[in-house]
Amino acid sequence: MEEKLVVTKIRNGIVIDHIPAGKALKVLKVLGITGSEGLRVALVMNVESRKLGRKDIVKIEEKYLSMKELSLIALIAPTATINIIKEYKVVEKQKVKPPSIVKGLIKCPNPTCISRKKNEPIKSLFKLKSTNPIMLECQYCGYVLRGDEIEDYIET
Ligand code: CTP
Ligand code: ZN
Repeated sequence: MEEKLVVTKIRNGIVIDHIPAGKALKVLKVLGITGSEGLRVALVMNVESRKLGRKDIVKIEEKYLSMKELSLIALIAPTATINIIKEYKVVEKQKVKPPSIVKGLIKCPNPTCISRKKNEPIKSLFKLKSTNPIMLECQYCGYVLRGDEIEDYIET
């Protein structure tokens, strides 16, 4: 580690590193973290990175990610690395990968899409059309969703 430590190391939890600069708040938003959960969270924004030029980092203590959360992070921040920290050590490091099919995680923005009908037992279904930039296509109505729109359409 050659970068200067901007915030302290954490004991147990996750460090989401190599987030594209400026996207840290979106990552927190897709994780549903508002601050009122009481989790200890550190945000680092726009620091130097050899790989990315600039990057953001999110550290969350005592938090582990579900598959759903990993998929959403991959769609918002495809360059991210997830570090799992136990007793101050990085015990696992994983690169996120945008899923080729996204089912039931994101609402289709098209209000007339069949997946939006309250009485239909249909889960939303998107196919990954492009990774750079991220583009998802609704398999019911063809709506194309951009990566930066995703945060506004998370299924609750
Ligand atoms: N980290 C932390 N608390 C710890 C251990 C690591 O906050 N107890 C953070 C580091 O500050 C770094 C990230 O987790 O931002 C990954 O740590 P490490 O693998 O040691 O750093 P690098 O080797 O620089 O990672 P990479 O090769 O993925 O860039
Ligand atoms: Zn649709």
